Amino acid sequence: MAPTMDTLVSLSKRRGFVFQSSEIYGGTGSCWDYGPLGVELKQNIKHAWWRDFVQSRADMVGLDASILMHPMVWKASGHLDKFTDPMVDCRECRLRFRADHVDELAWTHYCPATKGNKFTIPSGEACGHCGARRTLCPDCGKGELTPPRQFNLMFKTFMGPVEEDASVAYLRPETAQAMFVNFDNVLQSMRLKLPFGIGQAGRSFRNEITPGNFIFRTREFEQMEIEYFVNPHEKVDARPADEWWHDRWIEDCLAWFRRYGLQEENLRLREHAADELSHYSKRTVDIEFRYPIGWSELMGIANRTDFDLKQHSKFSGKSLTYFDDERKEHVVPFVVEPAMGVDRALLAFLTDAYREEEVRGEKRVVLRFHPELAPIQVAVLPLLKKREEIVKTALGIRADLAKRWRVVYDDTAAIGRLYRRQDEVGTPYCVTVDVQTVGDSGTAEAGDGRVTIRDRDSMQQIRVSVATLADVLGELLGGTPWETVAARFGPAPPPA
Ligand code: GAP
Repeated sequence: MAPTMDTLVSLSKRRGFVFQSSEIYGGTGSCWDYGPLGVELKQNIKHAWWRDFVQSRADMVGLDASILMHPMVWKASGHLDKFTDPMVDCRECRLRFRADHVDELAWTHYCPATKGNKFTIPSGEACGHCGARRTLCPDCGKGELTPPRQFNLMFKTFMGPVEEDASVAYLRPETAQAMFVNFDNVLQSMRLKLPFGIGQAGRSFRNEITPGNFIFRTREFEQMEIEYFVNPHEKVDARPADEWWHDRWIEDCLAWFRRYGLQEENLRLREHAADELSHYSKRTVDIEFRYPIGWSELMGIANRTDFDLKQHSKFSGKSLTYFDDERKEHVVPFVVEPAMGVDRALLAFLTDAYREEEVRGEKRVVLRFHPELAPIQVAVLPLLKKREEIVKTALGIRADLAKRWRVVYDDTAAIGRLYRRQDEVGTPYCVTVDVQTVGDSGTAEAGDGRVTIRDRDSMQQIRVSVATLADVLGELLGGTPWETVAARFGPAPPPA
């Protein structure tokens, strides 16, 4: 069964994935802090994206630009004039809503047919007693809403010590623009040929009118964006190059989410209708994920045409073209933009990984993270924390494995409970050191130098020598299926 958002919020807090920002002061609306395991998960997602889309491709390079940019960037890009949402205000309680989201909210109603009793009515439904539909503020149920006004989503600030119009600056609302304004710097310094792309991951800021749904829509978030430049005069498979590459990027991004574990049934594509396309877009396709709130945008892949390069060229007076050697002419490349939100990707991986299972009459919560994304890859656990040799051996193994992987040592509970704790944070493998490993000096019984590896998903175990442990874990974490590796070690002891 898919988890609810409350289940994920509660697990995230309990196990150190995500905390409410400034919680001890009552919290800051829509701002979240990534805890010790959340920051690992986030880093792993960003690292996998960077490695797969930037480092391992011959046609990609990276960039890390500053968040504060020249204000003209936002004039040229259209953000100053067009990056707006329609908002309405309640004249009574002053709460503000996105005009196009008001009907999606449950609403408060004081019903005249029941002597003014207060009801909370699900979004879009009429009152079951008087048949009324929502006309007033959905929150307080008393105030009228103002007509919609356009509200710019950019955060404004001032550069330098003086707060005056001349020093206005904006926190970037997308990472994309830095890749357009640096187009020529990157082209010249790296001697690139079309088609090529620039990738960048970093923070973006939007003063969203109705943020919410945990980390799904926040005012400060991270993006991983690619601007992929193609020659508009070229054809690929008899199709215009920009259209061919657009479809190719949609496939590549879908394949990436599948590769890191998102299930097919939780992914789908959604084509933007002509009237919802952004001002720069010829075609946009969203990859949607089935979140606890329903199907919603995970990322967008847009064909931005030559809009941005032409705008920045016009406003800066600098040429942003590419010299086409074959045609002996300067061209303005078209741009395909796969734009992904890190926080939304993390929420998708968390939702998809969550399972509740029944094991021997008890509930087991397990996060089936892909081993590359899992915050902890291996947990080393001593069976008895009072046996010095066991603890010493386990700590030695942890230190050794930590040179290659994300490894923890835990001796704060009995082994069954330690396994459940690791399941709940998605650790793919636990290594247990027991009396058999180290022997018993009291009875002069020699140890066999073997430890147990336990697989998170099947809960099966194998025993391997400490000398080969790193090799076996290397195979498992490198993608060899558990069954293949386990088959070499004979019948497994019962699941634990
Ligand atoms: N440069 C294009 C661009 O920014 P977008 O669809 O507005 O396009 C891209 O944003 C991605 O950034 C979205 O698909 C989503 O994953 C993420 N994103 C956008 N706004 C967000 C917000 N307020 N909170 C969290 N993630 C957000």
